[in-house]
Amino acid sequence: MKKIGVLTSGGDAPGMNAAVRAVVRTGCENGMQVMGIERGYTGLINGEMYEMNLRTVSDIIHRGGTMLYSARCPEFKTQAGIDKAAESCRKNGIDGLVVIGGDGSFRGARDLSLSGIPCVGIPGTIDNDIACSDYTIGYDTAMNTIMEMVDRIRDTTESHDRCSVVEVMGRSAGYLALNAGIAVGATTILIPEVPYDIERDVIERMRRTQKTGKKHFIIIVAEGIGGVEALAREIEEKTGVESRATILGHVQRGGSPTVRDRVAASEMGNYAVKLLQNGIGNRVVAMQKEKVVDFDIYEALNMKKSIDLNLYKVAHEISI
Ligand code: ADP
Ligand code: F6P
Repeated sequence: MKKIGVLTSGGDAPGMNAAVRAVVRTGCENGMQVMGIERGYTGLINGEMYEMNLRTVSDIIHRGGTMLYSARCPEFKTQAGIDKAAESCRKNGIDGLVVIGGDGSFRGARDLSLSGIPCVGIPGTIDNDIACSDYTIGYDTAMNTIMEMVDRIRDTTESHDRCSVVEVMGRSAGYLALNAGIAVGATTILIPEVPYDIERDVIERMRRTQKTGKKHFIIIVAEGIGGVEALAREIEEKTGVESRATILGHVQRGGSPTVRDRVAASEMGNYAVKLLQNGIGNRVVAMQKEKVVDFDIYEALNMKKSIDLNLYKVAHEISI
C-alpha cells in the first residue's frame, strides 16, 4: 500500500494522539503517504483530510483528546454513507485505513472493508469494553483520573462523616468502576455485569461497617446503572448518614495519557501499519497477555468479554 488514512472515531480517549503519531511515523518511515482524516467517518465522507508527516505529529504524545477530532456519524451506519466513504477513499487514493475507536467504529471498519477499502482497527476507548483485547487505549488514564478525583471526594466525605455516591463512566461495562472502586477503597461497587440488591449490597453493608466504627463511605456506581441522586437519598433515609451524589462525567475522558496508554498506543499504531504494509486488512489490533496480536474484524466483533468475578469478590471482601 502506498497511501493510507488514519482517523479517530466515537468517544475520544487519552492516548489516541500517541496512536496517531505511531501510525503516521511508521507509515512515513516505511515509504507510505499518510492522510489524517478529521472528525472520524464524517470527515471521511466529506473529504476533510490532509497529508501528515513526521513533524505534524510532534508534541502530541502527551496530550489528551485527539488532534484529528472525533465524531459520531449516523450517516455511516447506512449503505449510502459507506458508499460515499469508500468513494472518498478512492478519490483521494487511499489504499487502506487505520480506525482508532471502539466497537461501533469497528463495525464501520468492517462495512468499509466489505466495500473494498481494507481497514485495521485499534481499540481506543476508556471503557475497556473491546472483547478481543485485554486492554484499550485510554483505560489506564481514565482509571487514574477517577482515583484522583475520588481521593479528593474522600477528603470532604470524611470531614463531614458522609456517604458519597459516585457515578463513573462505562456505557454498559463495569471495568472502570470495578478497578477504580478497588483503588479508592469503595464500600460497595455496583456494575451492570453483576446483579445487585440495594438493601443487601448497599444499606446492609453500610450498617455492618458502621458497627465497626466507620463513619464515612464511598459507593461507586457504573454509568450503566446510574440513579446516583436517588440512591444517595435512599441511603440517607435508611442509614441516617448524610449523603451526596457526584457524577464524575467527562473529566474522566481528558488529561495527559499515562505511560501505559502511551506505550500501548505506540505499539498498536506501529503494528496496525505493518499489517496494512503487508496488504492485510479487515483486522483489529488487540492486546493479549501484554502482547500485541490481531484478529479478523468479524471474529473480534462476535467475541464476548466477561468481568473478573473474583476481583469483584475481592473488592467486597476487603472493603468492610
Ligand atoms: P465507539 O466506536 O466508541 O463504540 P460509536 O458506537 O459511537 O463509538 O461508533 C462510532 C461511529 O462508528 C458511529 O458514529 C458510526 O459512524 C460508526 N458505527 C457505529 N455503529 C455502526 C454500525 N453498526 N455499522 C456501521 N457503522 C457504525
Ligand atoms: O465510550 C466512551 C464513553 O465515555 C462512555 O463511557 C460514555 O458512556 C460515553 O462515551 C459518553 O459519550 P458522550 O461523550 O457522547 O456523552
